[in-house]
Amino acid sequence: MKRTLGTCYYPEHWPEAQWAEDAARMAGIGLTWVRIGEFAWSRLEPAPGDLRFDWLDRAIDTLGAAGLKVVLGTPTATPPRWMLARHPDMLAIDAMGHPRKFGSRRHYCFSHDGYREEAVRIARLLAERYGRNPHVAAWQTDNEYGCHDTVISYSDAATRAFRDWCAQRYQSPDALNRAWGNVFWSMDYDSFDDIDLPNLTVTEPNPAHALAFRRFCSDQVARFNAPQVAAIRAHSDAPISHNYMGRITEFDHYALGRQMEIATWDSYPLGFLEDRLEDDAAHKRRYARQGDPDFQAFHHDLYRTVGHGRWWVMEQQPGPVNWAPHNPAPLPGMARFWAWEAFAHGAECVAWFRWRQAPFAQEQMHAGMLRPDSAPAPAFHEAAEVASELADLPEVEAGQAPVALVFNYASAWSWAVQPQGKGLDYFRLVFEIYRGLRKLGQSIDIVPPDCADLGGYNLVLVPGLECVPPRLFDAITASGAQAMFGPRTNCKTAEMSIPVPLPPAIPGLDVTVARVESLRPDMPIPSAHLGHITGWREILEGSAPVQMTTADGEAVIMGENGRYYLGGWPDAGFLGCILTRLLTDAGLTALEMPEGVRRRQAGGRVFLFNHGPDPVEFQGHLLPAAGVHWSGAGARQGN
Ligand code: GAL
Repeated sequence: MKRTLGTCYYPEHWPEAQWAEDAARMAGIGLTWVRIGEFAWSRLEPAPGDLRFDWLDRAIDTLGAAGLKVVLGTPTATPPRWMLARHPDMLAIDAMGHPRKFGSRRHYCFSHDGYREEAVRIARLLAERYGRNPHVAAWQTDNEYGCHDTVISYSDAATRAFRDWCAQRYQSPDALNRAWGNVFWSMDYDSFDDIDLPNLTVTEPNPAHALAFRRFCSDQVARFNAPQVAAIRAHSDAPISHNYMGRITEFDHYALGRQMEIATWDSYPLGFLEDRLEDDAAHKRRYARQGDPDFQAFHHDLYRTVGHGRWWVMEQQPGPVNWAPHNPAPLPGMARFWAWEAFAHGAECVAWFRWRQAPFAQEQMHAGMLRPDSAPAPAFHEAAEVASELADLPEVEAGQAPVALVFNYASAWSWAVQPQGKGLDYFRLVFEIYRGLRKLGQSIDIVPPDCADLGGYNLVLVPGLECVPPRLFDAITASGAQAMFGPRTNCKTAEMSIPVPLPPAIPGLDVTVARVESLRPDMPIPSAHLGHITGWREILEGSAPVQMTTADGEAVIMGENGRYYLGGWPDAGFLGCILTRLLTDAGLTALEMPEGVRRRQAGGRVFLFNHGPDPVEFQGHLLPAAGVHWSGAGARQGN
């Protein structure tokens, strides 16, 4: 697989006379791909039916003539103002009942049928015109579903669609009442038409109702995307992708991924560190110019699965962004470092957002590969360097990792609906375990719970998965892997009740969660080993052997023969002990990685990345500080 580079370009932002020179410069530094079009609707169709594709024809010709391949986006993330006049009720409505108005982007409700038809119409028109264009070599639907909290909408359209969804799922109001437990607080319904969305209730709504609504919202995203994909596919053989974001859990990305050939995502390491992570100030200060050592890698590994092995970074941070609480510049060399990190995780392409910084509108303070005056910004030179390195790169295969970490979206919804303690968040739990594994030098595959085949894994971890499908147990057994479940695994039915027999109900393992509690941040429970249980703790019963305990002798891990249950949320110190033991039992080597150094095994090749601000030595290699160039690799590659 030839790894490639690209950029995101907005021909509609620049005079046409500049396009050819831009294209020549892109090709000149070794870029292959250019993504265009994803926000251009007002210039493609300035009034309903008034199609102006001539400029896009010329833009694609110009880019193609320079040897670039085009990813063409459908512009449905930015419906023009006239769309609102045509469909006044298309706006999403927030939980307080307020419309999310025109004047930025993503101002549509996924349930609005009229808007969905408009979206399919423009996708079809683009596909008809460009489906066989030799320069259009890939497609992107919309952009970043879910960004800016846009999956959940409480509009009238959503209310009507939710009632239909409930009618289909439950068939009768009686069945719905039973499934949700509506006898509680006299919440029974006689008719699906009486069911409202679960906002603006006096106190919390029934969690089963809230979870059903979250499922519905996710389904609506898939329902919005599918006909766009079909419209494109009818006219083009080029692969279709959607461009996802970091830490968006409101819709099931695996379900979307099944509709398309490639998954792409947007990697903004410094923005994410400030904006998306709970870590303390010291961690954020240490990595302020390099980004968190694990957050990008987690998403690389996640989207590799969402894209069935085919994934890209569609937007790579080039310099300071504009949207986080603070927006520092990356260390020199980070544009190159992040690109290599993505390739080590199997990316087919890394594209920078954006080609030239726009001097106008919302993102005028967001860096590009070029400054607004067209002079090169640091990412321009670093991209050129990566391109020349790629030319000499031997084959890199992503390879299967030895550890599988199970992650899904429905668990994020049920935790959000009923956290049972402030700050208890499913993504954070899974991410902390991912980080714990990486601190021990592991490479990881993130897998969905319904994956049928876990063959080849030594260790499978299933933290916080609220409802375990029986086939996951079967797949683990068939694989012969060691497995650890918990905390909070298999603790709810699909309809958000407590199952009886009580959790975790793991076949062949006699462990029962007799009681749970959430803990204040100032009441950690010391473990008998290192570190603590924090935030969440379970009291375990059963005949399975106790493997690890709290300092006062209460069971924390029980199990045997490669099946273990963890009854609490360990802090980093305790997690390190637990994972070291598990990895060793599973026949893997737990490595003591220096702070900020991460290792990624890609097929037969090992990459080492030092995210820290200082050089470190590891296994006889001197790893330079993040971003620093040395003998051809800040990210060290070896066999
Ligand atoms: C992404 C988005 C881009 C741009 C970028 C800024 O989330 O897809 O359109 O807004 O962020 O960092």
